Amino acid sequence: AQTTIVAPSLLSADFLHLEQAIRMVNESEADWLHIDVMDGVFVPNISFGFPILEAIRPIIQKPLDVHLMIVEPTKFVREFAALGVDTMNVHYEVSPHLHRSIGAIKSAGMKAAVTLNPHTPVELLSDVLDDLDMVLLMSVNPGFGGQKFIPRTVDKVRRLKAMIQERGLHTLIEVDGGVNASTGALLVEAGADALVAGSYVFSHPDPKAAIHSLKELSRP
Ligand code: DX5
Ligand code: ZN
Repeated sequence: AQTTIVAPSLLSADFLHLEQAIRMVNESEADWLHIDVMDGVFVPNISFGFPILEAIRPIIQKPLDVHLMIVEPTKFVREFAALGVDTMNVHYEVSPHLHRSIGAIKSAGMKAAVTLNPHTPVELLSDVLDDLDMVLLMSVNPGFGGQKFIPRTVDKVRRLKAMIQERGLHTLIEVDGGVNASTGALLVEAGADALVAGSYVFSHPDPKAAIHSLKELSRP
């Protein structure tokens, strides 16, 4: 059985004590740290940007999974590469030249991932899927933590998994939004490889136990 990749989202951490949150993730079974950057244009909220990321970078010990909810994400490919970002996620909905964006991310030495909003069908990735390291499916409308999981996402995971398997690819499927142990179980069963979890982890009385509960979701 293959264990699930778990990526806690720092967005739900206590921003007055970011160091404590990062150290908890470092010591946990989490595989990646998920970082949500928002610009108040693509999504109706603003999170944080480079000054904060540069400040916290030295103590982060997990690979960085950066989710850019910003217009023109590839403007900042160099900056994210310099931060040592492992995977750069750009939204399909802000990318008129997606093929070029994917190439730019990979040329900068990062893994390339495309993120789809709940209304965007996975079939639209048909002609770039072979170039992608990962697809991130949003199971809420991006912009805020703590929202309710959109159940239709499970079917999107299934359809995307079928596309990936038909082509014999190794593209990972990650899901973000409203993930907890029960929605996570449905997603993993449908073929998700990686789960992002914000409020489930950081509102849990024992965040490391919450991470563990996602980590142990596996399919045969
Ligand atoms: C939402 C972000 C998510 C968010 C998830 O726009 O992309 O990563 O932190 O939070 P939860 O897990 O609480 O839905
Ligand atoms: Zn996210």
